[in-house]
Amino acid sequence: MSLCIDGKLLLKRIEHLSRIGRTPEGGVTRPGFSIKESQARTLVEKWMAEAGLETSVDPALNLIGTCWGKERGAPVVVTGSHLDSVPNGGRLDGVLGVLGALEAVRSLILSKIEIRRSIRVVAFAAEEPNIYGFSTVGSRAISSSLPEGALERKDPKGLTLCELLSRRGGRPEEISRARFDPSQVAAFVELHIEQGPFLDIQKIPIGIVSTLCGIKRLLITVKGRPDHAGTMPMNLRKDALAAGAQLILAIEMICKSKGEGMVGTVGKMTLAPNQVNVVPGRAELELDLRTHDDELFDRIYAEILEACDAVSNERSLEISLTARTGEPPVSLPEDLSRVIVNVCQDFHLSYLKMPSWAGHDATQMAKITKTAVIFVPSRQGLSHCPQEWTDGKDIKTGVRVLSETLLRLANWDE
Ligand code: GLV
Ligand code: MN
Ligand code: MN
Repeated sequence: MSLCIDGKLLLKRIEHLSRIGRTPEGGVTRPGFSIKESQARTLVEKWMAEAGLETSVDPALNLIGTCWGKERGAPVVVTGSHLDSVPNGGRLDGVLGVLGALEAVRSLILSKIEIRRSIRVVAFAAEEPNIYGFSTVGSRAISSSLPEGALERKDPKGLTLCELLSRRGGRPEEISRARFDPSQVAAFVELHIEQGPFLDIQKIPIGIVSTLCGIKRLLITVKGRPDHAGTMPMNLRKDALAAGAQLILAIEMICKSKGEGMVGTVGKMTLAPNQVNVVPGRAELELDLRTHDDELFDRIYAEILEACDAVSNERSLEISLTARTGEPPVSLPEDLSRVIVNVCQDFHLSYLKMPSWAGHDATQMAKITKTAVIFVPSRQGLSHCPQEWTDGKDIKTGVRVLSETLLRLANWDE
């Protein structure tokens, strides 16, 4: 029996949610722990309740909707993704994995098919990188992997993550209660847009992720000297931005030299004093490095350090490199992806086993349970921008695959 997915309702809800934090360019700005993220969570909680899920919001502000199975004590199947976005991002990154999971479970409830294990749909809080220097806050709380001292970290205005969480209605003092007991979780499955071009180019509707990339984030601080932009001769300056620019190009060369094995991006730079008539005295570069080969991280770190030394000697200024967060690559278990392969074969759908170059809540959930990620195509591979798009037909196919996968897992005996 095929489960009945209401594609129209799902697309309408995706559109509805995209109005919360919509930008003039048609994108979405909904940062983690912002009022907009809270509004999105409240709306999704209402839709979950309407579908018959029992809802709760945990101390870390993860929204959890439970569809009870026949055996309430059996380890549960978890699915979901996030509702926050990057600045001026797309409407589907994260949202598809939450609303798609809700529609998948709604279809199961409507079908009245009996399920043994309960299914939990989670809208994880604050998945994207935040001002406190890390990402995936909600799924880290659930998997007990928040960085040391995370709640005491301060934003540039001195507001701690603890204070921000309380302000939004979270309960930081009880954050450890967000943890899921690993023995009570059977599996986690995340539906997500690919965010890259491969499925779209090959016209394949489903991606089954084999490995999640490792991500390391580094902070490079260049300390030069602020000077008058007119009076200080060029050869006597210590221009932190010019040194930073030289480093950015060096890092690009280093990453390119690793072929397809590594990507590196300086996606954020902060300058001081950031004033047109002052030579930049300080530049902070935030570097995001990704690979599926953990050993490459060490090699590339050494090469970047060398580049920092070279620029610092050439320009006589100080450059330091600090590691912020680091996650190694994760191989996802074969037996779980086999379940999705079987669903695709039974539905006569082509699929591609592929690595993920994006960060996901799945990386944290894989620390406590068997984890799988299902991709649907992203038009032209565009993501983290307003142009992010997936055809309605592909969205519906992804949710059909998720729904059937959840059904099989809910009755799964490993
Ligand atoms: C999250 O979207 C990431 O890949 O950084
Ligand atoms: Mn994202
Ligand atoms: Mn995402």
